[in-house]
Amino acid sequence: MSEYAVQLKNITKTFGSVVANNRVDLNVRRGEILALLGENGSGKTTLMNMLSGIYRPDKGQIFINGTKMYIDSPEDAKKLGIGMIHQHFKLIEKFTAADNIWMGVEKEPFLLKTKFNYVDSLYPYDGLDGNSLRSQKLQRFKVKTRLCLSALNYKLVNFFRNAFLSPSRFEKVNKIARDFGFDLDSRKKVCDMAVSEKQTLEIVKVLYYGADILILDEPTAVLTTQEIQKLFSILRKMKEKGCAIIIITHKLNEVLEISDRVTVLRKGENVGTIDTKDANEQLLTELMVGEKVDLKIECEKTDFDETLLSIKGLTVLNNEGTNAIEDVSFDLKSGEILGVAGISGCGQKELCESIAGLLPVKSGEILYSGENIAGKRPLDIINMGISMSFIPEDRLGMGLAGSMSVADNMILKTYRNAKGKLPSPRLYPFVDRKNAKALANKVVEELEVSTPDVDKTPVRRLSGGNVQKVLLGREIKGDPRVIITAYPVRGLDINSSYCIYDILSREKQKGTGVLFVGEDLDVMLALCDRILVLCHGKVMGTVQHNQSTKEQLGLMMTGTPYSQIYGDGENVKEEVANG
Ligand SMILES: Nc1ncnc2c1ncn2[C@@H]1O[C@H](COP(=O)(O)OP(=O)(O)O)[C@@H](O)[C@H]1O
Ligand SMILES: [Mg+2]
Repeated sequence: MSEYAVQLKNITKTFGSVVANNRVDLNVRRGEILALLGENGSGKTTLMNMLSGIYRPDKGQIFINGTKMYIDSPEDAKKLGIGMIHQHFKLIEKFTAADNIWMGVEKEPFLLKTKFNYVDSLYPYDGLDGNSLRSQKLQRFKVKTRLCLSALNYKLVNFFRNAFLSPSRFEKVNKIARDFGFDLDSRKKVCDMAVSEKQTLEIVKVLYYGADILILDEPTAVLTTQEIQKLFSILRKMKEKGCAIIIITHKLNEVLEISDRVTVLRKGENVGTIDTKDANEQLLTELMVGEKVDLKIECEKTDFDETLLSIKGLTVLNNEGTNAIEDVSFDLKSGEILGVAGISGCGQKELCESIAGLLPVKSGEILYSGENIAGKRPLDIINMGISMSFIPEDRLGMGLAGSMSVADNMILKTYRNAKGKLPSPRLYPFVDRKNAKALANKVVEELEVSTPDVDKTPVRRLSGGNVQKVLLGREIKGDPRVIITAYPVRGLDINSSYCIYDILSREKQKGTGVLFVGEDLDVMLALCDRILVLCHGKVMGTVQHNQSTKEQLGLMMTGTPYSQIYGDGENVKEEVANG
C-alpha cells in the first residue's frame, strides 16, 4: 500500500476566468494532520471540494491509498472513506442528532451498475459463439440476478430495521460519540444546539460512515478557545487511530499547535509544504502572503476629550426574560477605542443591541451627547450618528443582503426619504443608484475590496473578508460619531484583519468613538485604549491597555473583580470614577 492516504497531483480547477487551483500537488499520510493554509480566496475550499466529490478537477489526478480514483460525487467520496466537515453546516434544524446522521445512510451496499460492469468483464463474449456464447450469457444472467436479490434483501432488512429498531440508533450514535470522547446527546434537536455541538455532530456523522480521511474546513472559526482545545484533542485521538486529517485554517498559531506538516496555497498554487516543527509564524505568513508582512498594531493616543456615550446603570433582558446585562456603566470618549472583552454570550450582544435601539432597556440610561436615547427607534439612533455592525457566530445574516450587489447594499441604509419613511416599492426604480454606485466604488477603492464589479455581483459571491469590509465600509461612510463593532474580523485572514484594525484606528484618529467587542485578547491589548471586561452581564472592571496582561483579562472574564487583581491602587479609583 502507498505511504499516502491521499495524493493530489497537478490539480487545476477554473471557474470561468478565475483560476481557483493551478497545478496543485498535495499529499497526506495516514496518522497525520496536514494543515492547509492560505489567505481567503487562495483556493483551499475548492481543492478540498474536489477531494470530497463536490467539484471535478479540470486537470490532474487523485490517488486514494495509492490507487487512481475518479471522484464524481459526494457518494463516491463517502465510499472511499472521505468525509468533509464544511464551513457552513449541512444539518436539518428540526431533526435530532441521530436522525441527521441516519438520513444520510447509504440506501444500497454498492452500486449495482458498477458491479454489473465487473460481471461483464468476468464473463466476456469476445470470440465466443454457439453454445459457449449461450452458456456465458446464462452465467452473466445468474450472477446478476443474485446481485439484484441481495440488493433487494438489503433494502428490506434496512426498511424493517428503520421501522422497528429505531431506538437503538440513538444508542449507536452515542457509542461512536463516546468512543472518540465527544459530548453529544443523540436525541437533542439541532435547533437547540450551540454552534460547537453542531460541529461535533458533523464530525460524528462523518465517523459514523466510517470515514478515515477527514477534511475540516475552517472548523475553529466558530469556536471558543476552550472548544478549540477540545476539538484538537479529538483530532489527535483520530490521528492515533490512523486517520488522515486535513485541516483548513488561516490561523498560524493553530497550524503550529495541531499539524504535523503544512501546505501553503497562494493564489491557487501550492507555494510550499514544510514540516511544522521547522515552521514559525513569520515564515508561514511570508509564504502565505508572498511578501514581508508587518504584524504590528498601533494604538496612538489622541487628544480628543469629549464624552460621546455615557452608559449609566444599564440593565437589559435577554429573550428568556433574565438579565443579559446588569447595572452596566461606562463612558466612551471621542477618539478612543474601548474594547469589550468577555466569554462568548456574557452580554456583549445585548449591550450592542440595546445601544443601537434593537433591544428594550429595562432600567438605566444611554446618554449620547447628554441626551438619553434609550427607547428611541433604531433608525433615529442611526440618524443621530451611531452605527453598529455585528458579525454573528455563523457570519451570515450580518446586516448585508447577500443577493444584492455592493452598490445596492450601500443604498439599504440610506434610501429612506428625509422623513425616515421607506419609498414605496413602485418608486424603487427611482432610488438614487448613481450615488450608491459612487459610494460603493469609494468603499471598494479605499478598503481594497476585491470584487469584479460593484453593481452586478451579489455580495454573497465575495469572500468573507471582502464582505466584512463592505459592511464596515458602509457604516464608516455614513460618517458616524460612534461605531459599535462586534467581531469585525471573525473568520478573516491576516491581511484582511489588519486592514480592518487599520480602518478602526483611522476612524479613531478622526475623533470617532469606537466600541470594539473582540475575541482575540492579544489584539485587544494592542488595539484598544481601554478594555472593559464583562462576566455574566456585569462589568468586572476597565483596564488601560498598556497596564494589563492577557492572563489578568482572562481572570476577570471568568469572574474575578478588578480590585482583587490590581489591589486598591490609584488606577482603580480612576477607573471607578470613570464607571
Ligand atoms: N462556485 C464558484 N464559482 C465561481 N468562483 C468560485 C466558486 N468557488 C470558488 N470560486 C473562486 O475561486 C477562488 C478560490 O476560492 P476558495 O476555494 O473558496 O478559497 P478559500 O477557501 O481559500 O478561501 C476565489 O477567487 C473564489 O471566488
Ligand atoms: Mg474557504
